[in-house]
Amino acid sequence: EKGTYPYYMLKEIDEQPAVMRKLVLKYQDEEGKLSIDPEIVSTMMNSDRIYIIAAGTSYHAGLVGKKLLEEMTNIPTEVHVSSEFGYHTPLLPEKPFFIFISQSGETADSRQVLVKMNELGHPSLTVTNVAGSTLSRESNFTLLLNAGPEIAVASTKAYTAQIAVLAILSEVVGIEKGLIDEPTMIHDLGIVANAMQTLVDEKDVIEELASEYLSITRNAFYIGRGMDYHVALEAALKLKEISYIQTEGFAAGELKHGTIALIEKGTPVIAIVTEQAVAGHTRGNLQETRARGAHTMVISMDGLDRPGDHIVIPKVNPLLSALVSVIPTQLLSYYCSLHRGNDVDKPRNLAKSVTVE
Ligand code: M6R
Repeated sequence: EKGTYPYYMLKEIDEQPAVMRKLVLKYQDEEGKLSIDPEIVSTMMNSDRIYIIAAGTSYHAGLVGKKLLEEMTNIPTEVHVSSEFGYHTPLLPEKPFFIFISQSGETADSRQVLVKMNELGHPSLTVTNVAGSTLSRESNFTLLLNAGPEIAVASTKAYTAQIAVLAILSEVVGIEKGLIDEPTMIHDLGIVANAMQTLVDEKDVIEELASEYLSITRNAFYIGRGMDYHVALEAALKLKEISYIQTEGFAAGELKHGTIALIEKGTPVIAIVTEQAVAGHTRGNLQETRARGAHTMVISMDGLDRPGDHIVIPKVNPLLSALVSVIPTQLLSYYCSLHRGNDVDKPRNLAKSVTVE
């Protein structure tokens, strides 16, 4: 059922605007308001700290989710890689609430944490694409991504659906806590869907950039600050897993503290710039790499763009920028892998779900 698509990954990238629209509908009640199982909402409101536990791309969605949750619900939130958390558990508060993010719902690293937290009696929610999956069955609550099956090993539509579900959840809890008077999420996610569509329609431009920047290099960097840093981590994972280019996602300001030593003539450095407060700093950091020979590219948001930027994403609610800025990075990875003659959907050494610890 790839249809006319050469690879599932491309199909799944293209499905993202539709997934956003469908999700908003799925989480709407008869009155057209966003709604989440009240038991989930009250359990979260009753907790003193949220722990997001996940691996790989789902962990990167969690980093964005932390920002959304803290901003809209005011509940302190931590994000942890599941393979670290279970055996090196930090000191927990009295009433922690666990959110497991897992496309497959079968990741063993995440499950071992859930088993331990169940033993301790802590409440948990699984955000997953697979109804009836192990994590879903073994946690107290489930929120589904409704993204349709994701076949390509490289996760794309699950990442954006995970962030959207966390955004919806955050707004509903924020409203319930009296922190949000005028809900905007339905509208904002609609704008996001349109912005995604604009970008997936720009494949030609992005394919061209992939061949110009990534066709022969052995290494690459994505840089950004704040939300853009979180996307840089995801963009780097996506590029390395299917192109086999050694790629680092890096906090733009941290480069100069050592890693900039790796920049040579021609090293691709891609900056993501969607946040006003740090845009100038990130551009400055990019300039520092260019002065050392880097082949630089800028992905910026409309309104913060400058002449010469390579990809300008449409303006969206800054809290949701990751949903949109990630799209060109997915396409860059796809075309880079394709041009290198790799099996895009089945990269070497990897499986779709990782069921060993
Ligand atoms: O099914 P999960 O979301 O729990 O999987 C977690 C990771 O294994 C997964 O996101 C992996 O990093 C992907 N291959 C990334 O594209």
